[in-house]
Amino acid sequence: MHFQWYPGHMTKARRMMQENIKLIDLIIELVDARIPFSSRNPDIDEMGKNKARLILLNKADLAEDALNDEWIDFFRKKGYSAVKVNSKKGGGIKSIQSVIQEACKEKTERDRKRGILNRPVRAMVVGIPNVGKSTFINALAGKACAKTGNKPGVTRGKQWIRLNKNVELLDTPGILWPKFEDQAVGLKLAFIGSIKDEILQTEELAAELVKFLNSEYQGVLEEKYGLDNVQDAYAALREIAENRHCLVRGSELDTEKASSILLEDFRSGKLGRITLEKPETERQDRVE
Ligand code: G4P
Repeated sequence: MHFQWYPGHMTKARRMMQENIKLIDLIIELVDARIPFSSRNPDIDEMGKNKARLILLNKADLAEDALNDEWIDFFRKKGYSAVKVNSKKGGGIKSIQSVIQEACKEKTERDRKRGILNRPVRAMVVGIPNVGKSTFINALAGKACAKTGNKPGVTRGKQWIRLNKNVELLDTPGILWPKFEDQAVGLKLAFIGSIKDEILQTEELAAELVKFLNSEYQGVLEEKYGLDNVQDAYAALREIAENRHCLVRGSELDTEKASSILLEDFRSGKLGRITLEKPETERQDRVE
C-alpha cells in the first residue's frame, strides 16, 4: 500500500504553523477519538513548546466511550489539558470556554504578577485534515465566526474571533500534516478517510478493516451484513457484495462497491462506536 503527504504541502503547512504559533498563547489540538495516537502529528510538541496546550478528542461520538475516557486520562497524565467533544452535535462544546481558562491559568497568573490584567487569551485550533477543525470553530464561535477578511474595504490579515472578554480565537485553523512513516499509522488514517481513497486500493483497505474488526469487534460484521464467514477477509467482502446485491455486468460480484460500503459504514458510525487504538503503549498499534 502506498501513500504520501507531498513535501511541498508539508513545508507550507509547517511555515504557516510556525508563524501563527508566535501570535498565540494556547494551542487547541484536535485529534480523532478513533485514532488519537495516529491522528496526532508529534511535531506540534516541538513547535508549541512554551505554549499552553489543550487536546480535544473530537468525533467522540464515533469512538467507544470507555476508551475515550482512557485516552483523556492518558493525555492528562502527559500534562495536557484534555476533553472529549462531538463538534458536529455540539456535545462538550459548552464547557470548552472554562476548559480554555483552566488550560491557560499559568499564563494568566504570570500576567497578573506582571500587572497585566484582563488580557484575553489568544488561541488557535490545529489538527490534520478532516479531523473537524472548521466544524469545531463553527460550533464554538457560532455566528461570531463570520469572516470579514475577504470583503472589500476590510483590512486583510489575521482575523480574531472574540469568544468572550477572556478568549480570542484565530479564525483560520492550522493544518497539521499527517505523519505516517509507520505503515500501521497510514493504514489507520486511511480507515477513517483522512488519506484520499483514490491513492489507495479500496479492496485492500477494506480487507484490512475486516481483519481488524474480526479480531477486536467480533460479531459486528456478522450482524451488520448477515455474514457467515468472516475469517477470510476477501471472502467476507464477496459475501457483503452478494448480500447487498453489488453486481457488475449483471452477475459478477462487485467487491469494489462492497468495500466502499463497508468503509463508508465504518466512517459514518453505522457499524457502531469503534476505536482503533488503545492508550497503553504496548497496545497502541491494535491494527498491525
Ligand atoms: P477540517 O476543518 O479539520 O478539515 O474538518 P471539517 O470541520 O471539515 O470536518 C470534516 C468532517 O468531519 C465533516 O463531515 C464534519 O461534519 C465531520 N465532523 C466534525 N466533527 C465531528 C464530530 O465530532 N463527530 C462526527 N460524527 N463528525 C464530525 P463531512 O462528511 O465532510 O461533512 P458533512 O457530511 O458533515 O456535511
